Amino acid sequence: MAILVVNNISKHFGGLQALFKVNISVEAGTTHSLIGPNGAGKSTLLNVLTGQIEPNEGSVVFKDRPLLNITPHKINQLGIARVFQTPAIFPEMVLLENVMAAVFASRDGAYKFNLLESRRHAQSVANFAIEILEQVGLQHKIRSEARFLSRGDKRRLELAICLAHKPSLLLLDEPTAGMARHETESTIELLRSISKKNMTIVIVEHDMNVVFALSDTITVLSQGQVIAEGIPDHVRGNPAVIEAYLGKEHA
Ligand SMILES: Nc1ncnc2c1ncn2[C@@H]1O[C@H](COP(=O)(O)OP(=O)(O)OP(=O)(O)O)[C@@H](O)[C@H]1O
Ligand SMILES: [Mg+2]
Repeated sequence: MAILVVNNISKHFGGLQALFKVNISVEAGTTHSLIGPNGAGKSTLLNVLTGQIEPNEGSVVFKDRPLLNITPHKINQLGIARVFQTPAIFPEMVLLENVMAAVFASRDGAYKFNLLESRRHAQSVANFAIEILEQVGLQHKIRSEARFLSRGDKRRLELAICLAHKPSLLLLDEPTAGMARHETESTIELLRSISKKNMTIVIVEHDMNVVFALSDTITVLSQGQVIAEGIPDHVRGNPAVIEAYLGKEHA
């Protein structure tokens, strides 16, 4: 079953056609990568999915519900979370408090923080926060202040904060950019373990090791258009892809 359907989306910035009649269907529970050369339109597509950018034509359907003309906040509430761009880390707070704040915000609504009500739920919120911190591999640091985390661990915390909202679709834009090899490897493992819990993941990534390690399906964009789509082995051998993208990297 498709959880996300991108129908005929086009977006231009002035004379520049960033996306042109893009169609993509993402199956629930899969990891679906978007790849393509710089400027292909990948981030623009994510911006359309999160409501940051309004397309010129087309529609996005998430869980059978059209998403156009609703705010980024509402889209987030419906269950789409964009990872590694959430600003919500509090450096002076310990990890447990950071994740608990996110759980409170998602349960009480970002604009209605009811302290009394929240106190009553504090224990269940703490338990859920600990569960999430375990899921991202930070259980041994729940009492550390966020500011002391390494860069890799900060990313884990950001992911934990996203998971606090119980999203059903995670969008990741270049999650391993700038990472050392061992951090990339552990990010692959982490995303794999999250995906196993039946999470749907859409990932934009330049590192082909990450893409081939994680993807069930790959969509290749070039100059705003889908030029190939399929399972990794199908995309790997596709001459149009090699020419547009892989060829450049491996030339
Ligand atoms: N807000 C904007 N205003 C004007 N042009 C934009 C805007 N956002 C993106 N573009 C242009 O649209 C095209 C697609 O950009 P986009 O960022 O989606 O590419 P990308 O595939 O994510 O590339 P990269 O791999 O380098 O991140 C580029 O030519 C970019 O310069
Ligand atoms: Mg981009």
